[in-house]
Amino acid sequence: MSERHLIIDAIASHPWIERAWSAGDDAVVIQPRAETLAVRPALGPLVREHLEHWSEVYEWIYETSGAGQPADLDLSGWRASDTGEPLAREHMVEWIDRTVELVREGSPRVVLELGCGSGLLLRRLHAEAERYVGTDVSEVAVDRLRAAGLSGVSALVAAAHEIGSPEVTEALAGARPDCVLLNSVTQCFPGNDYLDAVVSDALELVSDGGRVIVGDFRHAGLADRYYRWLEPDDEAATRRAVADEEFVFDPRFLALIAARATRPVSISVRAKTMTADTELTRYRCDVVLHVSAEPAPPPSAVVWKTLAGDRLAAVRALAEAGAVVVNGIPNALLDDDPLGIEPHALRACLTGTGAIVGLDLDHPARLEVCPPTGVPAGEVSPHSAPVAGEPLARFVARRLPEVIRDHLRKIMPDAKPPTLTVANGRNPR
Ligand SMILES: C[S@@+](CC[C@H](N)C(=O)[O-])C[C@H]1O[C@@H](n2cnc3c(N)ncnc32)[C@H](O)[C@@H]1O
Repeated sequence: MSERHLIIDAIASHPWIERAWSAGDDAVVIQPRAETLAVRPALGPLVREHLEHWSEVYEWIYETSGAGQPADLDLSGWRASDTGEPLAREHMVEWIDRTVELVREGSPRVVLELGCGSGLLLRRLHAEAERYVGTDVSEVAVDRLRAAGLSGVSALVAAAHEIGSPEVTEALAGARPDCVLLNSVTQCFPGNDYLDAVVSDALELVSDGGRVIVGDFRHAGLADRYYRWLEPDDEAATRRAVADEEFVFDPRFLALIAARATRPVSISVRAKTMTADTELTRYRCDVVLHVSAEPAPPPSAVVWKTLAGDRLAAVRALAEAGAVVVNGIPNALLDDDPLGIEPHALRACLTGTGAIVGLDLDHPARLEVCPPTGVPAGEVSPHSAPVAGEPLARFVARRLPEVIRDHLRKIMPDAKPPTLTVANGRNPR
C-alpha cells in the first residue's frame, strides 16, 4: 500500500470521520460522522466544542471586565460591532427596560431564563415571580448570581440544551415555567438543529398559556444590510459576512419549529423600539411564542399608506378601537421612504392601547401595529426557506482538520500531513 493510502486509512480511522478521500496531489477531503454534529439524542463532540468556545469567551468577558461593573448593570461584552467601543449606558438601560416590559406582558410567576448572564433581566424581574431559575454556561456569572442571594432565584451552570436535565428540573421544584426566556443568547448557538432542540423543549416544558421568548437576535433577513451598514464598500461587507461567527436566523424558522409543537402556538415578532439608532435597534428583534393561547380572531388589516392626514393619530385611534393590524409601515431606520417612521415613534403613539410594534414576517424592513397575541405559527407562510448563517459549519471547517492533523501526528509521526478540507455543504453532512 502506498503511503498516501496509509495516510487516508489513518485519517478514516479517527472516530469522528465517516469518510476520507484523495482530492489531488496533496489534498484530502474529510467527511465527519453525523453523530459528531448532532444535538439529539446526544451532543456530538464538535457541537460540544463549539459550545465550549462560547462559554470560554463569556467566562473571560465576565472575569476581566465584569468585576469592575455595578452588579445590577454589568454591561461587559456589550460593545459596538464597528468601533469595539462599549455601547452607551443609556441605550443599554433602555434596551433592558424594553425587554423587561416584554417579559412583564405575560405576568409570569415561574421564569426559566436560559443564558441569564450577569442577570440584567433576572435582577429586575425576580421579585415579581414566585420562582426564577437562571442558567448559564459561565461559572463566573452563575457564582456571582448565587453570591447575590436574590429571593426566589436559583442560578445554575447549564447549557440551553440541558433544559430537561435533573438539575434544571430540581431547581424548578416541580413547577412548569410560564415563561422560558432566551434573550441575546442564540447568537452563540451552533445552528438550526441546536435552536430547534432548545425551542422545541422549551415549548414542551412551558405551561398552558405560557410563553417562550426568543429575544434580541439578529434577523437573517436584515443580515446583508447589517454588513453594509458596518462597512464602507461591498467587498468589506462580504468579508464581514464571511467572518461572522454568530448564529443568525429568520423568525420564520421559529414559526416552523412552533408549528410542530404538540400544542397550538402563536408567534409575535417584535421590532426593537429603543430611541437610539444602533445595530441593536436596527437589526435585532424579539419573538414571543404563545403556547395554547386562546386563538384571537384574525384582525382586519389597514395599509399604512392608505391612511390620510396625521397617520400616527389615525394609527392610535385604530389601536384604541382594538383588533386592527396596520401594516406596510416602512421602518425609517432601514428604508428612506418619505412615509417611513422610526419604531420608537410608533411605540410612543401606542402607549396605553395594548397594541405593539411588530415586524412584518415577510418584509423585515417593514413595521406593523398589531395586538400582542400574534398569529398561529402554522399559518406563517414558509414560502421561501428561512435563511440562516450557521456557525457550526465554519467551526468544523477550521477545527476538524486540526483534530485530524494531531491524530495523524500521533499514529504516523513521520508522514507529511496532507492539506485537509471538510466535505462541502451548508451543513457538512
Ligand atoms: C449576551 S449575554 C446575555 C445575557 C442575558 N440573557 C441578557 O439578556 O442580559 C449571552 C449569555 O449567554 C450565555 N451562553 C452562551 N451560549 C450558551 C448556551 N449554549 N447555553 C446557555 N447559555 C449560553 C453566555 O455565557 C452569556 O452569559
